[in-house]
Amino acid sequence: MTTNPSEKQSRFDPEPMPRRDFLGLAALGSMAAAFILSIFGMLKLPKAAVSASPAKKFSVALPDTLVEGEPFVPPGRNVAVFRDGEGVFAISTICTHLGCIVKAGTTGFECPCHGSGFEKDGTVRKGPAPKPLPWLKVSKSGSTYTVDEETTVKTGTKI
Ligand code: FES
Repeated sequence: MTTNPSEKQSRFDPEPMPRRDFLGLAALGSMAAAFILSIFGMLKLPKAAVSASPAKKFSVALPDTLVEGEPFVPPGRNVAVFRDGEGVFAISTICTHLGCIVKAGTTGFECPCHGSGFEKDGTVRKGPAPKPLPWLKVSKSGSTYTVDEETTVKTGTKI
């Protein structure tokens, strides 16, 4: 059907949009929608659940009932504190293999992850742990002790 150029276009019958323009407009609209949705998606990302780590230096009051050679693990700490006839000392309970928390007992330490075993003084009894458990610095103030998890001392250091 041919249209007569002199024929006036009705406003209720607009000129059809060429296919190329329509597709270009559709692509532009899709990109805008994707951009806006991605912004909303980023805003809804969960916030990092970072909590402040506890101080690495902490005070510990050893229970009066603590038996000589028995470990005392302060709640929330990766340290075992011992008292024996020579003094008080602390050993880290972080496995030297891959960092699991070892279980402290009266016969030593056992790692639940890969089976490493440590003697009561932290030396390796059974691998794969490559190194002994480190001894940590302990200081005394009155009847309380302060353990510094960031400072290691020579094995056998007691106060
Ligand atoms: S982390 Fe302890 S043995 Fe592997």
